[in-house]
Amino acid sequence: MIIGIPKEVKDHESRVGISPAGARALVDAGHKVLVEHNAGALSSFPDDDYQAVGAEIVGEAYHVWSSADMVVKVKEPVPSEYYHFRPGLTLFTYLHLAPLRELTDALLDKKVTGIAYETVRDKAGTLPLLTPMSEVAGRLSVQVGAAYLEKEHGGRGVLLGGVPGVPPGNVCIIGGGVVGVNAAKIALGMGAKVTLLDLSLNRLRELDDIFSGRLHTLYSNAYNVERAVCEADLVIGGVLIPGAAAPKIVTAAMVSKMKKGAVIVDVAIDQGGCIETARPTTHSDPSYTVDGVVHYCVTNMPAAVPNTSTLALTNATFPYVMKLARLGAHVAISEDAGIAEGVNTFNGFLTYKAVAHAQDREYTSIANLHP
Ligand SMILES: NC(=O)c1ccc[n+]([C@@H]2O[C@H](COP(=O)([O-])OP(=O)(O)OC[C@H]3O[C@@H](n4cnc5c(N)ncnc54)[C@H](O)[C@@H]3O)[C@@H](O)[C@H]2O)c1
Repeated sequence: MIIGIPKEVKDHESRVGISPAGARALVDAGHKVLVEHNAGALSSFPDDDYQAVGAEIVGEAYHVWSSADMVVKVKEPVPSEYYHFRPGLTLFTYLHLAPLRELTDALLDKKVTGIAYETVRDKAGTLPLLTPMSEVAGRLSVQVGAAYLEKEHGGRGVLLGGVPGVPPGNVCIIGGGVVGVNAAKIALGMGAKVTLLDLSLNRLRELDDIFSGRLHTLYSNAYNVERAVCEADLVIGGVLIPGAAAPKIVTAAMVSKMKKGAVIVDVAIDQGGCIETARPTTHSDPSYTVDGVVHYCVTNMPAAVPNTSTLALTNATFPYVMKLARLGAHVAISEDAGIAEGVNTFNGFLTYKAVAHAQDREYTSIANLHP
């Protein structure tokens, strides 16, 4: 198979769809890998690293898209990429089609097989291609929050770990899923006092066991949330209700009672945020202040650490890339139920129910289309 890796063109996107390690494994398996010039540069993978493992560097995006049987990307295509679509092309990337009607139209018109990272499922029923980015964002949230707590960045000048004779900072994490547990690991590692709230008692039990009592767990209700955020130096929002906008767990009234110079990192901002005063920000203008509380609400936090993020993402995507390359998309879809769940568009049909529902369009099950 010919596998194409274009350079990402979405604003501030610095990851790349395949690392040099992935390119090597594909080449070793007899596939041809075309990489657009500088596709990996922002992730600290220069063209030479790809060339050294047998990939071919191509000057123009057009040549990558037009020659490849399968294009592997990171972000959903932007309008300038739609004209590359053509029948017979398999596109494996994050698609997030629900709000993107024009992109959906373009994929359907050109009969592209669009396989979305965010809907591929593993045998346990989880979403394995979302997990690595939540791991990165969870760990990064504490690193970023610690920096914003510094006086120079508008914070209250608290060192999360404290020092002998001076108490550590208080970190409050709302949501104990992948983001929450990764934030807890880093915050505890820095020596902070950490409180984590979740609605699931089973999850709180697990976390209590994992952290052997070093983590303070609290059941999530308005009373406990208010008390915890008012004591906190750093609040991290990591709540998710699958398929829904994030609920506003921390109200504007609660934020107004927080310590001046405290910091909020609302990781759940990509789902609308779980803090009422949070609004989406970008890496070029990441923070703002409400009632003396610094807010950091960047919707694509992993792009701040593209080398780690690309490796984490491609570790998870690569087994699927390899299977798609080995079997071809059609056979892989019929043999692997998890890959079939990832198919959002196929031969001009919309094959993912939630996207069809969000766009009020006809849904066709992939099972009815595939030979
Ligand atoms: N900003 C970014 O760059 C970025 C990157 C990765 C993930 N995210 C987002 O972070 C959010 C969390 O992702 P995740 O992978 O940790 O999800 P997850 O499903 O692993 O965890 C979510 C947790 O929220 C808990 N929860 C639900 N309602 C709650 C409530 N009322 N109070 C407290 N807890 C509650 C759930 O029980 C669950 O444990 C998602 O919105 C995800 O899209 C953002």
